[in-house]
Amino acid sequence: MCGIVAATADRDVVPVLIAGLKALEYRGYDSAGISVLQDGRLARVRAKGKVRDLETLYDSAPVAGVTGIAHTRWATHGAPNTVNAHPHVSSERVAIVHNGIIENHAELREELKARGYRFESETDTEVIAHLVEQALAGNADLRSAVLAATRRLHGAYAIAVMNRDQPDRIVGARRGSPLVVGVGDGEHFLGSDVQALIKQTNRFVYLDEGDVVEISRGRFEICDADGNPVERPVRKSELSADAVDRGEYRHYMIKEIHEQPRAVADTLEGRLSENRILPNIFGVDAEALLARVKHVQIVACGTSFHAGLVARYWLEGIAGLPCSVEVASEYRYRRAVVQPGTLFLAVSQSGETADTLAALRDGRRHGYLGSMAICNVPESSLVRESDLVLMTRAGPEIGVASTKAFTTQLAALALLVLELARINGLAAEKYSRLVAELASLPRVIGEVLALEPQIAALAERFVPRHHALFLGRGVHYPVALEGALKLKEISYIHAEAYPAGELKHGPLALVDEDMPVIAVAPNNQLLEKLKSNLEEVRARGGELFVFADTDAPVVQAGERGAVLKIASGGNLIAPAVFTVPLQMLAYHVAVLRGTDVDQPRNLAKSVTVE
Ligand code: G6P
Repeated sequence: MCGIVAATADRDVVPVLIAGLKALEYRGYDSAGISVLQDGRLARVRAKGKVRDLETLYDSAPVAGVTGIAHTRWATHGAPNTVNAHPHVSSERVAIVHNGIIENHAELREELKARGYRFESETDTEVIAHLVEQALAGNADLRSAVLAATRRLHGAYAIAVMNRDQPDRIVGARRGSPLVVGVGDGEHFLGSDVQALIKQTNRFVYLDEGDVVEISRGRFEICDADGNPVERPVRKSELSADAVDRGEYRHYMIKEIHEQPRAVADTLEGRLSENRILPNIFGVDAEALLARVKHVQIVACGTSFHAGLVARYWLEGIAGLPCSVEVASEYRYRRAVVQPGTLFLAVSQSGETADTLAALRDGRRHGYLGSMAICNVPESSLVRESDLVLMTRAGPEIGVASTKAFTTQLAALALLVLELARINGLAAEKYSRLVAELASLPRVIGEVLALEPQIAALAERFVPRHHALFLGRGVHYPVALEGALKLKEISYIHAEAYPAGELKHGPLALVDEDMPVIAVAPNNQLLEKLKSNLEEVRARGGELFVFADTDAPVVQAGERGAVLKIASGGNLIAPAVFTVPLQMLAYHVAVLRGTDVDQPRNLAKSVTVE
């Protein structure tokens, strides 16, 4: 989950590389580096920290060149320091950047050492540099050398490689990690994603697993893992160059929180009319497959997993279909027993999360009825490898803590649930009422956003805290999980979420005047039960912060606590609506605590390694 960018052009490519790295920083940001061919040698600048640290170093000692590669890192092998920062070089003639994990790096390292190669870093990447160099020393050209090197690798990689002695070209390769080719006029690029290059071009080639590509100014050539030439289509990206700008907002996260009404409206657009889900929104062949679904297995990670948990309540409660939900890193290593008629449903913002992808690929062997992806990135591996796809259309999400990706996933999942419910005979009146409720989600989220000043004021009370407990019941338990995840990710306050009914089985022991308890209290059939749980907290001196439905019968928070009223807009959409104030709370607490909101420590947005 590092970011790669490479360019070969008729101009100095360093500004292109730095701009690309900035767009890729969401993938990792503990160190960064650039290498360009300058006056016949490989010049290299590397810095610990963010791309702006690299930029500062570059400003004091500029390098320039028409061919270059660059990298922003999220450490997997070796500490985040300058020595381990990419690009890595071999014998002053090969430079390489890499995203992924080479699983057999230790044995390759021993082999290469025995052949006289000296290792500078602790990274797995350096073995690739030496393998390429070894092949070049045997008179291969760069492309054949990369092919030879990649054949030795086990694990995942996307790489970009330069050879000092072939100064006009760069070779890239991918297996298990993303890499795209940007096609310009008289210039070509490589990048981990489209965002990195959108300011340079809107024409892209998406490489397949095992592909190797050679780019130079005037052309690009792709071959498969066996070295056979292959054609891959050039596609035009719809992404606009300013979609990734922060505008007037202080952070991407708050911009993305405010984009939710628009993003959810885009998710729903063209997919429902006033009282029904439109036909074929899951693809022309989908209806026959969906009609055979008897069970749904949802697999996801992080925030996407929480969206899956919400969908389970919906699928069982509205569509009457049994559903299991599991985090992908567990699911893929479990011997799952697949019930006949099971739809495998992968939920992922990026569509590149290594565990989720692996679970999908393994799933094929287990005899699922079919697979479906709910995803935000049309060109992602997950989308390309799933039978059915429903795009969330949230637009690029840059803040590491996911916000609009989550609410759009919920909107997409609700579309699927309502379609399955219709197929399974949900009463027509209830069906059209729920469709209308879903259609109102953008407006209702818009209303909740207006509560930001109150939430910002509330946030001040969390600043000195070390812990927080989130409570919810039923479909709002996953909302509590998501609220706790947001708070811990960006404010570094330890936060846990519990189903409120579990409180008395353990966490109640933690409740005292130093433990704020945040509860989500929509006006549903569990409200009275929840109120009893909140009384248990109050009786022990706990400080209660309750997000309650405007029409909920009075919920007491006690003298020290606070109740904030939220108009949920109905039980179906309430989980998406109640998530929004929790996102804003986490955001404002983090801002007040002075953390790096968009790039919290130790995390990355897209986890393309296991
Ligand atoms: C990382 C991100 C989370 C995200 C998770 C799953 O941990 O920081 O925000 O929820 O990956 O990512 P996906 O792209 O599969 O939804």
